[in-house]
Parts: sequence; C-alpha cells; structure tokens
Amino acid sequence: MCGIIGIISQTNVSERLLDGLKRLEYRGYDSAGIATLFDGHSIDRRRAEGKLENLIALVGRNPLEGTIGIGHTRWATHGHVTENNAHPMANTIVSVVHNGIIENFATLKEALQAKGCVFTSDTDTEVVMHLVSEAIKEGFSPLAAVQHTLTIVKGAFALAFIFSDHPDLLIAARKGSPLVLGITENELFVGSDAIALAPWVRTVCYLEEGDIAALTVKDGKSNVIILNESGATVQRPFRQTNITTDSISKGDYTHYMLKEIFEQPQTISDTVQSLISLEDTSFHAPLLAIPTTFDHIRIIACGTSFYAGYVAKYWFEKWAHIRTEVEIASEFRYRSPVFDGKTLNIFISQSGETIDTLSALLLVKSKNEPTIAIVNVPESSIAREADLVIQTMVGPEIGVASTKAFTAQLAILATLCLKFAKDKQTIAPDEWKHYFESLIHIPSVISELLRNDDVYQQLATHIYHVQHALYLGRGLNFPIALEGALKLKEISYIHAEGYPAGELKHGPIALIDHTMPVIVLAPDDEWFDKTLSNIQEILVRGAKVIVFTSKEGADKIAKQTKGIPCLGVVILPKTNSFTTPLLYTVPLQLLAYYTAYAKGTDVDQPRNLAKSVTVE
Ligand code: G6P
Repeated sequence: MCGIIGIISQTNVSERLLDGLKRLEYRGYDSAGIATLFDGHSIDRRRAEGKLENLIALVGRNPLEGTIGIGHTRWATHGHVTENNAHPMANTIVSVVHNGIIENFATLKEALQAKGCVFTSDTDTEVVMHLVSEAIKEGFSPLAAVQHTLTIVKGAFALAFIFSDHPDLLIAARKGSPLVLGITENELFVGSDAIALAPWVRTVCYLEEGDIAALTVKDGKSNVIILNESGATVQRPFRQTNITTDSISKGDYTHYMLKEIFEQPQTISDTVQSLISLEDTSFHAPLLAIPTTFDHIRIIACGTSFYAGYVAKYWFEKWAHIRTEVEIASEFRYRSPVFDGKTLNIFISQSGETIDTLSALLLVKSKNEPTIAIVNVPESSIAREADLVIQTMVGPEIGVASTKAFTAQLAILATLCLKFAKDKQTIAPDEWKHYFESLIHIPSVISELLRNDDVYQQLATHIYHVQHALYLGRGLNFPIALEGALKLKEISYIHAEGYPAGELKHGPIALIDHTMPVIVLAPDDEWFDKTLSNIQEILVRGAKVIVFTSKEGADKIAKQTKGIPCLGVVILPKTNSFTTPLLYTVPLQLLAYYTAYAKGTDVDQPRNLAKSVTVE
C-alpha cells in the first residue's frame, strides 16, 4: 500500500521519480504525485487522481524542474481519492510523502487548527507537514523538526521529506513501514522497497524501526547519517541487492501474473531444494533449527497466505499427527487466544509486511512462544521479528494476486510436514520416500500442465460474463477451492465462493441453476466418490460444471454422468494426494487469469487491492 520514492542528484529528478513510481505501482494505489525543489529553493509539485499515466501526462504538459524530489503512490485511507488528498503534501516550508496511518491525527489536527494552521486536505499526513513546519518556524533545524514531530505522532508509518531552501537534504523516517536507502557516490535514493530503486543502485541499506536518515549530496559527494529512536548516530549494514530490472521485467508475457504462473515449476523447485538435499534427503538450515518440543502448531496469516496455512493443517494432522490450528491474523489478534507455551507458531506472508500478521506475531512473541516466519522478503518486518525465517525462493512477485508465492509457501509447508513426519516417525520410510519423490517431481508435472493452457482460455469464454461462481473441494483441496475462488474474485471481480463439497447441501445448493458455474476439484483420491456424488447432484440441477480431475477420475465421471455433460472435464497429470494441492492450484490460477483477461480487467493491479496491506 502506498509507495514512496525520493532522489537527491545533480540532474533533474522528475523523470526518475515517475519511473520509480512505475515500479511501485504493483503495491496498489489510486492517486500519485511528485514534488521537487525548483531553482533549489521553492517546492513545486504535480498530483493526479487515478493511474500513473495521468500524472505522467500532467508532468509532460507542465514539467517539474529540480535535482531533489520525492514521489508517492497513494492508497486512500483518510479522505477520498482526490488530487487534493494525493501526496506529496506541501506548504512553503516542507513537502512530505507518507505510507501508513497517523493514529492520533484527529486530536493533533484540532490543536494545529486552534493554532491557526489551515488544512487543505482530509489526510492524516497533513498533520505531519504542519508539525514539521511549525517546528521549523520555531527555529528547529529540519532534522530536529522531524525528530520532534516523531515524538508526537502515533502509528505505523514511513515518511520522506524535502525542505525549501535545503536543496541537498532529504530526510526519511521509518516506524512500522519499510524504507530502503539506495547509495551511490554522488546520488542518494529512498524507496519503499529495493524494486523501486533497481535501475540505479546496487548498494542498499534498510532502515530499522524508529530510524531517521538524513541524506545529503554536497559538491557531488553523498553522505548518509542515520539516527536511531533515541537520537544516537548508528551504522546500519550496507548490502548488495540482486534485484535488477531484468528480475522485475514482464518479458514476453501479457501480464506479470501470467509470467509468475509460468515461473512456478522453477520457483517450487528452488524453494524445495533450499530446504532439503535431493541426494541424501537431509534437511538444510533453517529447518534444522526448528524446535522439536512442542505439542501443537498454530498457523497465522491473511489472504492467500492463510489458505496455504489451511492446506498445511491437513498435511500436518494427517501425516505428522500434529494438531494444527489456522488463524486469520486480524481475528486472532483481537480475540483472547489461549497461550499454553507448548505451541509452535508459523506466520505466513509473501510481503512480510501485512500489519495484522505482524501484530499477531508481536502478540505471540510477548507470550514467549516460538515463532517461525515463512516470507518472500527476508528484510521484511515479519522476518526481522520472527525467531526463525524460511524464505520462499520466488524473487519479486509483482502481480497483486499472489500465485508463485502461494505455491512456494505450499512447498515449504509440505517439506516441513515431511520433516515433522520423519522426526516423529509417523509414516513408514517407504511412504515417506514416495511423498518426498512426488514433491521433487511436482515441478515437472506442473510444467506438463502448463503446456496445455489453451483449455483454460476456452473455459474462460464460458464464464467471463457470469456474476457468481462456486468452487468445491474436499480434504486437502478444500483450501485450494477457497484460493481458486479468491483468485477469481480478486482479478475478474466475479463473486466467487469456495465450499467444502460436503457442505453443498447445507446452503449453497440453493444457488444452483443454469447460470451458475461450479468448479469442482476432484482428484482421484480417497474423497473422490463422495465428490462424484456432489457432481451428479449439481449436474441434475442444471449447473455449468467444470471438473478438474485425473484420467481415472474423468473415466469414472463419464460413466456415471451419462447424458448430462459437464461444461468441461479437465484432465490433470496424475500425482498422489500429498502433492495434489500444489498441482490443483495452477489450473485455478489459469482459469482466473484467462477469465479476467477475457473480461478486460486490470489483471496485475486489480481495483482497490494492495499487494502489501500495511494498514488495518
Ligand atoms: C493482500 C494481497 C494478497 C495477499 C494478502 C496477504 O490482500 O492482495 O495477495 O495474499 O494481502 O499478504 P501477505 O503479503 O501477508 O502474504
């Protein structure tokens, strides 16, 4: 949510600010803006509602000069999506961009208005602007004014400031939302993530909680001073980033989402091989560091990551005999969960920044229970807070709807299940070997499936115009039905529900008529016959049924549903039930993708959604 970029250079920065914002688009936003110091003294800015194209066109018509500047993509929280509420906020003294929420803004706003400050937007951010400029008016230096302001505002945020008459100073502050500095000899950058800075820097430095960084470029030499929360000067490690423009390019694909779907054989394989040796099946660190003395497992996450956790409940209970709870982070943190000290807690998050998951992690930590984070971004807040981090090896995921991160999360959880099962000897060595081999083999099975993606384009032509769709699955594939429904909803805006097939008669069957597509996951597993009965029940009620199954499953369906054809029976390669969730996810991703594509929606940046949800 919201993206921040800032640059100090010796050449005009406005084009690069816009370029950086382009790479932050994936985070989700609804307006954008940039501000610079023109002639080195006065703040000027351009802001526009809607897509970045609008801002780019505006800057094209009315260019912005200046060698220092900040930019922002805004995902509205306080105040409608209007140009007035778009960042940067600016007066004649300071300009600021902000990601996050200032929780005490209403009280602060009243006090500032009483003092005579005039507000021109409905945002919480404007409070920060006034606090800083009031402090400067009282004689504080820009840095002291920011430090002072941060003692007053409450909440989780990232901020970047430029100041009139200070053409060589940019200040950035982090409290709750990530910020990374990009460093070269004669230019400095700040961004919400390293992706924003990819073409310009190799050396980056992640700010820690409470840090304020003063970036200066004087006489062509860059300098960074970082102060920690107590105001002491600190050194933060500089590291080399391997994020390049190539790693974030769309290549020949129409959308990032499609590219990321097709990357899955590789990303699943990379993730599994980062955890287990193919030669001798020994586990690598960090799996070796997982505590062994716990009674049960609690998995906490949001969105797609939650569904990965839900699959793990079935895995851990069936094959490792470990009682496992799965929790939606926003619910968990606000009820009164019971902590017994015997629970291993696993947090799953692609971004590692989801505020509810992070807050749930902090809550669990305060109860002294062990924590593991499964994340895609090793520098993220969740990764920093957890006792142990397991990384999904998928590279940057740009499409807002998660695909390759989800299957990599599944791959980690399946590997964890094998580890627990081995440690606890809950399955026979032969059976263990069979599941291990099927996990190693699954990337090539998915590659085979991806070779026939025209079938999904065909199916999409039958459903892209519908209003509603139902997804059914049983056992391990019930959470995959939930994930399939979420994918369709997110990118095609078709209302979709996932249900356990066994719940069909307890409500959803009332929805079935000839307009309702029902997508059924029916691998030829121990639940197949029951699911087949459900298929017959919905077929006789006229639904358009699409079934994903194996060759054997398709034969049985053909035999038993004679005379009432399904809209589609898609035959997937055969695998065993342990790995079906990984395989059956992919057709649902493709179906959602091609449906959205046929409908013409914004697949990579669906309306209202954000890639990393950093506010509640
Ligand atoms: C948002 C994204 C989803 C994601 C969810 C959880 O809703 O749009 O794709 O699954 O957040 O995000 P996380 O980064 O914690 O996995």
